[in-house]
Amino acid sequence: MDDNVVRQEYDKIANIYDQRWNSYITKTLTYLKNWANISPQATVLDVGCGTGEFESLILRDNAKQHITGVDISEQMLLVAKNKFQANSNLYPNVYFQIAGASSLPFANHSFDIIFSASAFHFFDDPVAALAEMKRVLKPDGKVFILDWCKDYFFCRLIDLYLKIFNSAHKRCYTQAEFHELLTSANFNIQRAAKFNFDVIWGMMVVEMKL
Ligand SMILES: C[S@@+](CC[C@H](N)C(=O)[O-])C[C@H]1O[C@@H](n2cnc3c(N)ncnc32)[C@H](O)[C@@H]1O
Repeated sequence: MDDNVVRQEYDKIANIYDQRWNSYITKTLTYLKNWANISPQATVLDVGCGTGEFESLILRDNAKQHITGVDISEQMLLVAKNKFQANSNLYPNVYFQIAGASSLPFANHSFDIIFSASAFHFFDDPVAALAEMKRVLKPDGKVFILDWCKDYFFCRLIDLYLKIFNSAHKRCYTQAEFHELLTSANFNIQRAAKFNFDVIWGMMVVEMKL
């Protein structure tokens, strides 16, 4: 499996993604936004931004927030861009760019806050992705990652199913495995939580600093 498989998979479903995943997206991204408490002055990066729903949520509170979304799927980004293009005067500081998590096209220390929602389990090289987040984060910046959590029974089941039937799926992590990866990358975990919703979805979220 490599990033090309993920890209093709998301290019295929880009036009139906928001509708199919409406309830999941709303619940996870609202949770993440509330959990993070984003300063209006913060320069934000969203890694694996998909169709720009997190950007929509943030810009609803603060239309002038500086936020950049990156994704490896051109079609997902096209959906994202179309949400803001007609109102670019209302949202002057939202940008979308094609990029893989392991190779972020930004200078060192560019962002105050980095988010990644429901994307980490796709990353082919999570260690390289974390190194890139560290590189582009400002020294006093924060990283928030929300992803599926294999501590939950249904997540283990979904992980197994997707490993067999969906070549785009990489792997889910338990919270302990996830934290081990983060601390090995020299991130300091500030806060962490696990939660589930709609019976099947088991999630974990973390806030980290350098
Ligand atoms: C389940 S969607 C989540 C999208 C969005 N964050 C949300 O919560 O609605 C996962 C996204 O991660 C992107 N993705 C997967 N692997 C990636 C990588 N290595 N680099 C950048 N984006 C990636 C996919 O293209 C897809 O748009």
